[in-house]
Amino acid sequence: MSKKVLVTGGAGYIGSHTVVELQEKNYDVVIVDNLSNSSIDSLDGIQAITGIRPAFEKFDLCDRERVYSFFKKNIDIAAVIHFAASKAVGESVENPLKYYRNNLVSLMNILENMEKFHISNLVFSSSCTVYGQAKELPVTENTPILPASSPYGNTKQVSEEIIRDTMDASDFNRAISLRYFNPIGAHPTALIGELPLGVPDNLVPFITQTGIGIRDKLRVFGDDYNTPDGSAIRDYLHVVDLAKAHVVAIERLLTDKNKANFEVFNLGTGNGVSVFEMIRSFEKVSGVKLNYEVAKRRPGDIEQIWADTTLANNELGWKTKSSLDEAVRTAWQWEKHYRSLNP
Ligand code: UD1
Repeated sequence: MSKKVLVTGGAGYIGSHTVVELQEKNYDVVIVDNLSNSSIDSLDGIQAITGIRPAFEKFDLCDRERVYSFFKKNIDIAAVIHFAASKAVGESVENPLKYYRNNLVSLMNILENMEKFHISNLVFSSSCTVYGQAKELPVTENTPILPASSPYGNTKQVSEEIIRDTMDASDFNRAISLRYFNPIGAHPTALIGELPLGVPDNLVPFITQTGIGIRDKLRVFGDDYNTPDGSAIRDYLHVVDLAKAHVVAIERLLTDKNKANFEVFNLGTGNGVSVFEMIRSFEKVSGVKLNYEVAKRRPGDIEQIWADTTLANNELGWKTKSSLDEAVRTAWQWEKHYRSLNP
């Protein structure tokens, strides 16, 4: 019988790609999403790709009573993947309480009900932001966690602590925290992808929107970093590779392969890519000349980070497959497809 997995934030960018991978492996998915930063249309895309429309409930996970009544109705849930969270770094600096409430209260409501209804398996959506600007690169899971540079980053650090303490409190509980580096790209069918509301904060959607003419020009935030070409470096991984890691993590928990009650894995390619390299990749795969200018550094940005993926490779047996160009190509195909339907 197929196992039921709750995917919070399953209508969002990484969530929707993960739902596709889960359904392709015959998991029975139920999505909870308040659609605050996502669209119900992603369910159409999931259905078109997999032939299955996932069960969906729209509500806010900060609503404790609502979360309780949801779990009460769904006691057959075998595992939870918790994506739902606010994620704009800049907004979190302006409105920290929104971030602490949305990201921490929702997590506590979920953990509380998992305990109540004896659901033991949690996969948590964490971020490389927990490392801040690490002194040594690449970062391993044992790289010291530095004070967070934004309330958003702090919610990921505190969330991991909350989960660790909760897992320690009972042998029955287990969780895997996945620390993503920078997810980019879209499903190769171009039926789901990243859909930022308003002006994108993130680099790749800003590039593709500029390429298609919605934005006038990209601003490269800083060319005076201590990096080979002066622009900042990140580890960009294809969202489909990332989505598959969630299925691996769920299977690890459901088949008792986990080696501790709380495990942490870096998910990246292991390669650092600069902003200028990203622009070149886009120009190559799209054939479009990108309009850009160099601007000041963005406050709160770190200079460079990329992942040591040895642990994920060896323990999870997971590795990214897609090259940077392939990932950027899917982002561009998605942008073109989406704009042709929504001019
Ligand atoms: C950050 C966090 C990440 C978090 C994500 C959520 C770090 C290292 N990363 O990603 O964990 O999940 O926010 O949104 O803290 N850039 C430009 N011009 C633009 C946009 C971006 O030059 O218009 C540059 C940035 O300065 C940065 C790179 O592109 O060097 C990537 O930026 P972005 O896509 O916003 O991701 P992060 O800030 O790395």
